[in-house]
Amino acid sequence: MKVHSGIKSIPLTLRMNDAVNQEQARTKHMDKLIATGGKPLMGEISISGAKNAALPLMISSLLTREATVISNVPHLNDITTTMELLGQMGVELQVDEKMAIEVNASTLNSAVAPYGLVKTMRASILVLGPLLARYGRAEVSLPGGCAIGSRPVNLHLKGLEAMGTDIIFEGGYIKAKAKRLKGTRIFMDMISVTGTENLMMAATLAKGTTVIENAAKEPEIVDLASALNEMGARIEGAGTDQIVIDGVEELGGTHHRVIPDRIEAGTFLLAALVSGGKIKLRDVQPHHMEAVLGKLVEAGAVIEVGEDWVSLESPEDPIQPVGIRTSPYPGFPTDMQAQFVLLNSVADGISTVVETVFENRFMHIHELRRMGANIELDGNTAVIQGVSQLNGAPVMATDLRASACLVLAGLIAQGETTIDRIYHIDRGYECIDEKLAQIGASIKRIPGGSFANHVDKSL
Ligand code: EPZ
Repeated sequence: MKVHSGIKSIPLTLRMNDAVNQEQARTKHMDKLIATGGKPLMGEISISGAKNAALPLMISSLLTREATVISNVPHLNDITTTMELLGQMGVELQVDEKMAIEVNASTLNSAVAPYGLVKTMRASILVLGPLLARYGRAEVSLPGGCAIGSRPVNLHLKGLEAMGTDIIFEGGYIKAKAKRLKGTRIFMDMISVTGTENLMMAATLAKGTTVIENAAKEPEIVDLASALNEMGARIEGAGTDQIVIDGVEELGGTHHRVIPDRIEAGTFLLAALVSGGKIKLRDVQPHHMEAVLGKLVEAGAVIEVGEDWVSLESPEDPIQPVGIRTSPYPGFPTDMQAQFVLLNSVADGISTVVETVFENRFMHIHELRRMGANIELDGNTAVIQGVSQLNGAPVMATDLRASACLVLAGLIAQGETTIDRIYHIDRGYECIDEKLAQIGASIKRIPGGSFANHVDKSL
């Protein structure tokens, strides 16, 4: 396995101990964004690697003693958290200036994922399968719920128990042990992205064959399976609802490039449409975005696609309302729901948006109403009457995709919008303010410390 020779060693511990970084990290929590509406977004931007592919790819390195290199990793808080999570287990990590990360788990000396890290990033649960497969034990804090729902992990645990894992719960932790995981047939009661990923990774080193029925089919799962097969795994059917994994004795390393982020791409296309602009995105995979592209065309956008690019031009006519019902891939992605609630809020007519994946993913609606949106909520259905103009207001982000919706709302509302708690958005969008400013948005980040000082002075 040829390890990426271009990686400069920037030891994680040095970076984390730097006092300035720590001060910035402390106050970064209070950063705000200020957006001023009215400018059409015009220009070209590059889309980053997909957060929801990079996280399992980095964690899959636990399955091998050899080094793996994951390139095209987005520079996001969740990536840093994953590096901290692996680092505190004794895993060696090196990152270069292009965010290619070399991960070497041969030095692993702990199988614990502590509450302090898991509570900031639920995807930490993904270490469970690899730790059990490689080391036969794991202690992972129960993730707990989050803003968008209770987010149980029962399907992950049920599948691992079916593969021969003994699980107890103690002090808020999942304590799991398995002599050697054994292949079996697992039917997923609900379609779960990380549930499928956790069990697929565990099965790569199990004894015998594992069949995952009713598996999730997201592109991020296909990307993970292709990386695992590069490492010597024997996985077939990723991207379909039946994945078959023949366990092997051990895995080697790989050098794998993360697929583009289809949600970041969809978010920027929608931003251009609602602002009456024109945009071209580079480094995308249009065939991962069919449901979203179809809805943007239905709303009136003029879209062109190439092999690794997508362009959008806004129509002369008013935006048309579009009915949305979220569902697992290849259906309409729940991670684009909040953005389309915004589109419908300024469309020419009435529409409904139904959220079927998470039980509490409409918090952006309360904030949009404060900006003048006309939305009625009825259970998991939002009924939206488009209005001609939103008005700027101070708003608060609550979860990753809701905060993206509020930033976009601020870019089209009359006047100024201040978005608070944007640490949510920094978890999933690489430098969103810089990328938006690059295409003409009037947006600026107010660093937490300075804002806090400003407020202190004015008191
Ligand atoms: C992944 O979350 C993504 N996160 C989410 O992206 C995304 O919204 C979600 O899939 C749906 O596409 C990552 O990949 C890191 P699920 P995940 O398991 O895997 C229920 C973002 O914005 N369920 O597919 O946690 C669950 O409560 C994030 O980037 C169980 O009941 O989602 C939900 O209702 C947000 N028991 C449904 O299944 C379980 O054991 C789908 O959840 C697991 C899930």
